[in-house]
Amino acid sequence: MAVDRTEENTVAYTIEGGIAWVKFNRPEKRNCMSPKLNRQMMRVLDHLEYRDDVGVLVLTGEGTSWSAGMDLKEYFRETEARGLGAIRQAQSEAYGWWRRLRWYHKPTIAMVNGWCFGGGYGPLHSCDLAFAAEDAQFGLSEINWGILPGGGATKVATNLLSMRNAMYHALMGENIDGKTAAKWGLINEAVPAESLKDRVTEVATVLLGKNPVALKATKDAVRRVMEMTYDNAEDYLIRAQEAANFFDGEGRKEGIKQFIDDKTYKPGLGAYDR
Ligand code: ACO
Repeated sequence: MAVDRTEENTVAYTIEGGIAWVKFNRPEKRNCMSPKLNRQMMRVLDHLEYRDDVGVLVLTGEGTSWSAGMDLKEYFRETEARGLGAIRQAQSEAYGWWRRLRWYHKPTIAMVNGWCFGGGYGPLHSCDLAFAAEDAQFGLSEINWGILPGGGATKVATNLLSMRNAMYHALMGENIDGKTAAKWGLINEAVPAESLKDRVTEVATVLLGKNPVALKATKDAVRRVMEMTYDNAEDYLIRAQEAANFFDGEGRKEGIKQFIDDKTYKPGLGAYDR
């Protein structure tokens, strides 16, 4: 049955106990990313980013799919029919929200509940952490319909996988399940589908207990230093900590005090009481 979905309804979200659960919401199209969805996702990310009641953002999918990649009809065929300007606009709308997510102000978790293809690797990599159902399916299916894995997908594969696995994955167009994705490093962990939300909630809850300024500084540092020489990284990390001190000068002093003076916690075993 054809579903007449408004742009606003291509993405859904709820906020529960500090966690924003954001969903690709085109289950009837296996959550493939159309220009409408890409525009709406940017609006939703924008709306949630600096809210005090959101400490962690989880990106998941409604139905059987996380995201079946780009919408071959609306993102490719229909925009190509409208010429270069439309193509570039559609690309910047998609890449725009993936970039926004990559540097998001809050920690982000991909909760991969089902299919994850091609263009879906962009937001998958944008999320800081990724958990999947053991039976989720991941694929660079571009080769199966005659293109290379663009839109960052090749970069994601080479960032996260060994060269041999990236090459096999990109050339063969075969899917891997959640367990293999975890073994290859594409995601952090695969768990049985029925435990996925509990496991993600558990991880998000731990993150909610940490210093938010330190979380943002840390997630950015991990992504930035990957592309730096050792000396540049050392220097960047000094500056980044000093910048974090500007926004939260007392947090680290409190963390030291509770350990050294009050003896109420051990940093090796958990976070200080904020
Ligand atoms: N683009 C456009 N429409 C899509 C896409 C997509 N990426 N994925 C699914 N759909 C549509 C189907 O055309 C179908 O529409 P219809 O009901 O109007 O006929 C509907 O979603 C349901 O899809 P089915 O194929 O019937 O669902 P099924 O559960 O049997 O299969 C699967 C799911 C395996 C995900 C399949 O839909 C598929 O192969 N999709 C394409 C995956 C893909 O290769 N994506 C592109 C990656 S490359 C890139 O992103 C650049």
